[in-house]
Amino acid sequence: MRHFLSLLDFTGDELRALIAHAIGVKTGLQQGRPHQPLTGKLLAMIFEKSSTRTRVSFEAGMHQLGGHAMFLSPRDSHLGRGEPIEDSARVISSMVDGILIRTFGHDRITTLAEHSRVPVINGLSDLLHPCQLLADMMTWFELRGDIDGATVAWIGDGNNMCHSYINAAIRFGFSLRIACPAGHSPDASLLASGGERVQLSASPAEAATAADLVVTDVWASMGQEDEQQQRSEIFSEFQVNREIMAHANRDALFMHCLPAHRGEEVTAEVLDGPRSVVWQEAENRLHAQKALLEILLSDSGVV
Ligand code: CP
Ligand code: NVA
Repeated sequence: MRHFLSLLDFTGDELRALIAHAIGVKTGLQQGRPHQPLTGKLLAMIFEKSSTRTRVSFEAGMHQLGGHAMFLSPRDSHLGRGEPIEDSARVISSMVDGILIRTFGHDRITTLAEHSRVPVINGLSDLLHPCQLLADMMTWFELRGDIDGATVAWIGDGNNMCHSYINAAIRFGFSLRIACPAGHSPDASLLASGGERVQLSASPAEAATAADLVVTDVWASMGQEDEQQQRSEIFSEFQVNREIMAHANRDALFMHCLPAHRGEEVTAEVLDGPRSVVWQEAENRLHAQKALLEILLSDSGVV
């Protein structure tokens, strides 16, 4: 049994195979060939934070694969009334085939996985958002081929998405340049784990220079709503706009995990412009996670 708590839980070869399979199944579906390897399987989905894309993609994905998904929120389960995550893990995993969880502290996910009898998927924690990277990488592979050797610029907060980009640089072999305001850099040990491939840049313009892909995310993540105003001031020089994109390579792409705040971390001109691939990226949450679910939940376990 395997969990998917971080991109590092899979090798680079496994991640590439997952993406190739996702692209194949996506194409088949578009040509009218359904693929239902998870008939009768059930995924429990625990959401302790809000979600549009993650919830819809996992629920739609399980349906398309022939299985079913069950939504659990803290408000109407005992998860929100103090039942230990260890006990919830034992009980829920005795009745379902897989568990997706979106929560705050990453340790809540690792504890759930330790006590679960079935695979656990990280649907976002304060530390990591690995499912989003499956979709981002799939989108790059569809549009540009392998990302090995490319240069990616991360501009903005050194948050969960930035951390997963560091893990992606390690697994896929691209160079990552990160520009963050002072005091908002990514976790130091994660940064160091990227070695020479992952560098902090002095400015957003420097990070974007000759980049093949420019990526950003909201300035205040879920759980940081109280800091929104203060962060808007701190991050004001870290907006991805026409000027920043002009430093990137001519065929550079723009990605954002969404939801986006036009006029804050990215201008409407860039988000809705020709280099932005955010809608394909969002749709690929469905396709990439279907491949992940098939790998983790199918009886053969092999894609
Ligand atoms: N990108 C992403 O995870 O979106 P949701 O918060 O809507 O799930
Ligand atoms: N960094 C954002 C990502 C949302 C998908 C957050 O954690 O809120």
